[in-house]
Amino acid sequence: MTKPVRLALLGCGTVGAEVVRLLREQAPDLTARVGAPLELAGIAVRRLGRDRGGVPVDPALFTTDALGLVKRDDVDLVIEVVGGIEPARGWLVEALRAGKSVVTANKALLAEDGGTLHDAAAEGGADLYYEAAVAGAIPLLRPLRESLHGDTITRVTGIVNGTTNFILSAMDATGAGFTEALDEATELGYAEADPTADVEGFDAAAKAAILASLAFHTRVTAADVHREGITEVTAADMASAKAMGCTIKLLCIASRGPDSAGTESVSVRVHPAMIPVSHPLASVGDAFNAVFVEAAAAGELMFYGRGAGGAPTASAVLGDIVGAARNHLAGVRAPSESAYAALPIRPMGEAVTRYHISLDVADRPGVLAAVAGVFARHDVSIATVRQAAAPAGPADGATGPAARGGDAILVIVTHAAPDAALAATVEELRRLDIVRSIASVLRVEGGAR
Ligand code: NDP
Ligand code: HSE
Repeated sequence: MTKPVRLALLGCGTVGAEVVRLLREQAPDLTARVGAPLELAGIAVRRLGRDRGGVPVDPALFTTDALGLVKRDDVDLVIEVVGGIEPARGWLVEALRAGKSVVTANKALLAEDGGTLHDAAAEGGADLYYEAAVAGAIPLLRPLRESLHGDTITRVTGIVNGTTNFILSAMDATGAGFTEALDEATELGYAEADPTADVEGFDAAAKAAILASLAFHTRVTAADVHREGITEVTAADMASAKAMGCTIKLLCIASRGPDSAGTESVSVRVHPAMIPVSHPLASVGDAFNAVFVEAAAAGELMFYGRGAGGAPTASAVLGDIVGAARNHLAGVRAPSESAYAALPIRPMGEAVTRYHISLDVADRPGVLAAVAGVFARHDVSIATVRQAAAPAGPADGATGPAARGGDAILVIVTHAAPDAALAATVEELRRLDIVRSIASVLRVEGGAR
């Protein structure tokens, strides 16, 4: 019998329990594919004695001493599905420096300090695999890191957070409230331990950093990513999007190209955006993810699938375990980090986008001209303007638009312009007396520019 490859599993929650289940259920096939049995040496958790999703596990395998487990001589590979920066970073650096390959789903850590992990892997001659860290079950990182290595990737656009896509899809389809949809996403195991990471865009920003690093051969961290979440997207925004034949999605957009000084650079941003319903990303519902990759020779490629949840994520983890185990047995390494291009990061102000702006204004002569003048001063071209009567305010003691009398809602969509010019336009609009309030500002992606 071939000597087994021994695994230390760190974490046995939503993802970890599914990893254990797949290891058990598919043991004969996995053994055949790897060339040796995969055997759990131990499982580190925070709380002993909990039910692990109904998966039967030998209680003797559990420990609360993750570092001790990583250091054990009988451990060949380390699988980390705990999450967070510390103590996970310490465990993984320890493993990699000791030559033990690591499989992790920890996008937060990879985006915060992936460089330290890659350096430790190079030092120890170990592999660092993390397919599950971006877009759950979708095979995406391996194509970027291997299949497309002969090409030049120019842009990556996608929906990479299942929780926010679930929420926005529910708001769009059924008019569901934000909190209700978030509770359901949490119940289904899509949300992070702290769902703020999802709804404020931190999770998508971490994934965007990982994607940009691989696509552009450049170390990009979460701090390099412009980030906005979905907490300010309202039912009124969704209705406004529908009126324009659009929906709202949280998009991750990473691109390379010349900055204002002509230097090749990288721009990475995550924010909610209106997209036409005819756009392929508009029909990506539920917790599904989809990512477009544009490459110089390959053209457009699209990756689609389940972006969150225990089993889909465990599928990606298992794929990495098989790869790492095979390399371990063969005494070879996977391709190491490619960050040779070291491109500079382009500031958000230089990103070229379109805006949808909804203003509550005084309804009197000259207002439209004054508003248009602000756009003109910042060299932002207006594509469309729509005026509607302001909604009625409360009947008594009213302070709403109707109570003040003579207000209107102006909905303006711009042509593409640098984000800094659009932001400056909005700032000046805010200071105008005739602008009672700015109801919403959303970027618009896809369709005519
Ligand atoms: P869970 O919160 O469900 O599970 C975390 C696990 O880590 C639990 O078993 C917990 O133990 C254990 N743990 C926490 N702290 C420690 C510690 N100090 N020492 C030992 N064990 C500890 O998280 P998920 O399974 O949802 O996510 C795990 C990772 O996978 C995260 O990095 C996440 O971002 C990533 N991921 C998650 C996806 C998903 O859809 N859920 C998708 C893609 C990636 P105990 O059970 O005893 O509390
Ligand atoms: N919380 C994440 C999401 C899990 O909703 O996409 C998958 O990475």
